[in-house]
Amino acid sequence: MSEFHALVPAAGFGARMGIEVPKQYLDLAGQPMIWHAISTLCACPDIKTVYVVLAPDDEYFSQYDWSHCEGKLAPLYCGGATRAESVANGLLAAELEPDDWVLVHDAARPCLTQHLLSRMISELRDDPVGGILAVPVADTLKRADAQQRIACTEPREGLWQAQTPQMFRAGLLAGALAHCKTVTDEASAIEAMGLQPKLVASDSSNFKVTYPHDIVLAELLLKHKNN
Ligand code: C5P
Repeated sequence: MSEFHALVPAAGFGARMGIEVPKQYLDLAGQPMIWHAISTLCACPDIKTVYVVLAPDDEYFSQYDWSHCEGKLAPLYCGGATRAESVANGLLAAELEPDDWVLVHDAARPCLTQHLLSRMISELRDDPVGGILAVPVADTLKRADAQQRIACTEPREGLWQAQTPQMFRAGLLAGALAHCKTVTDEASAIEAMGLQPKLVASDSSNFKVTYPHDIVLAELLLKHKNN
């Protein structure tokens, strides 16, 4: 039987935050940001191991108390220059069976819930390709010209915003990433193979903390989180 594992790429710096500490270690509701997603993934009964891909010289991760994740958490100090490289390196180091499912999740999406995780696993566990959590675009979309004036309004019908986790078979994903080193998510590498990942409906609470003001919103959501 195929197993389910999570892989959290956490070897980035978070340049858009404009801070010294890597984004994933910023304090969020009394814990480092990365603690929240890892704790949710470790508490999911379907998930056997949570691999965390860290920068080779990471000095932060081992300073925190991870005792509540014991038996499931596996830090791997093999992060690369890009997110895709970190995920590819992590897959290699984890030595998963090709048929095992791997759920790749951003360290910077702390508000993931058990409800979304179990929806994703039950919708995709028998899928031939795999898929991603995503939300239909809600805002009207404008294309800008070089002067930052509106060149045109883009139809938003059929457009979704990709989130994580992104769930694929380990063998398929490793093969796809070996050919695509510049993609910004795993699904793009699978699409480049001519396959069509499924979109599993999520909600906007699973957003990526990117800019300083996102911290306030994430803390509010975490305070009211009850899965
Ligand atoms: O920078 P961004 O928010 O898009 O990064 C998404 C995720 O990929 C983060 O969890 C970040 O730590 C991770 N990442 C990585 N290795 C890199 C760059 C980003 O693991 N070289």
